[in-house]
Amino acid sequence: MLNTDPYKGVRDFYPEDLFVEKYIFDTWRKTVESFGYVEYDASILEPTELYEAKSGAEIVNEQTYQFIDRGGRSVALRPEMTPTVARMVAARRRDLSFPLRWYSIPNLFRYERPQRGRLREHYQLNVDLFGIPSIEAEIEIISLAYKIMQNFGAKNNDFEIRISSRKLLNAVFNNWYELNPEQSDTLRRLIDKKARMPAEEFQQEAEKISRKAFNFLDFAKDSADYQEAMAFPEIREAKTELDAVIESLKKQGIKNVVLDSHLVRGFDYYTGIIFEIFDIDPKNNRSLFGGGRYDDLLTIFGGDKIPAVGFGMGDVTMENFLESRKLIPPYKSSCELLVVAMDEGSKEFAESVAEKERAAGKNVALNLTYRKIADQIKRAAKQGIAGIIVIGEEEKKSGNYKIKDLK
Ligand code: HAM
Repeated sequence: MLNTDPYKGVRDFYPEDLFVEKYIFDTWRKTVESFGYVEYDASILEPTELYEAKSGAEIVNEQTYQFIDRGGRSVALRPEMTPTVARMVAARRRDLSFPLRWYSIPNLFRYERPQRGRLREHYQLNVDLFGIPSIEAEIEIISLAYKIMQNFGAKNNDFEIRISSRKLLNAVFNNWYELNPEQSDTLRRLIDKKARMPAEEFQQEAEKISRKAFNFLDFAKDSADYQEAMAFPEIREAKTELDAVIESLKKQGIKNVVLDSHLVRGFDYYTGIIFEIFDIDPKNNRSLFGGGRYDDLLTIFGGDKIPAVGFGMGDVTMENFLESRKLIPPYKSSCELLVVAMDEGSKEFAESVAEKERAAGKNVALNLTYRKIADQIKRAAKQGIAGIIVIGEEEKKSGNYKIKDLK
């Protein structure tokens, strides 16, 4: 006997599940299109080398599904969309007119340990803005992410927008901690893991990299170390930019923005402002969105830089968020009406009624099983069908029929 379970860490979508998924996708689409973003798509297969260039060792070596095709090429199931969209934009850079506002809802695959909020497959809304080098891009993208949360019915105290800057981190690492690029990478990965390790272990590891990094600088707190670091122009500049983004968002009424010095983001390609939206519910202790600026990524395809800012938002974490706030609408079948004939004699009229209702724009199923009516009503209600029309001798004779509301 074969097992009926899906492959580990992936989902089957039964109609009730797909209803929720569609609700999430529709809300995403409506919101991003209202900001003028247009949809694109691509294949789930990509050459593995696309991720080797700038995504980072963890995603390539530990999380990517890879295989060798019949022609001996190494192929990956895409673990994220950013390198794909960068490739597409780079390929047509001469024909495209910037700024570009693009979005997509790809299915992504990562070999992870399945747990709440983390699967081996997920859909991710990707929203990216190309061609704007100034912070107006970050502000638009983060406001859009906030608008998505609002359109799902989320309140400000349900989530937190955590924001930081890769540029600021790099400036501190280079100028203040005096680290070489390799040490910087090690420290960045260590900070990324900080919340998941004992405090002493973090300090020991950080001290191995640099005495100064041991006392990791908190950009949100004004200390003596902070003052000293701010004397470096590169650090001061990056901090000023970060403050300006936060201030501008607050001015727009987005009050749940916080500067989080420990936010570093896993991917190597980020170059500037980075951000995540966090679910405050301790049960869903994960990020709903993650993104940032990646001005250098398109250079892996040759040619000049193209400034880019964007984010990804997953359906799994979004559904957990909505579930714990009871924000998921009740299931409704896309089949709106069921026409049932009581007996063979009513069959033809029942068929004509179904056709008439379809012509009027309704989604109509027709049952010619002649089972007990009470039983058919019960089954239709269980399937979430809104109404039923029962056709018998009387309806056939009079030509009139009633729609019974199953709710
Ligand atoms: P990411 O932080 O890896 O970013 O993923 C973004 C979001 O996708 C996460 O916050 C989470 O909601 C969801 N997600 C990621 N992995 C999983 C998983 N295994 N199971 C369920 N949900 C998951 C990126 O992928 C960047 N490429 C986003 C981006 C776009 N940056 C710039 N543009």
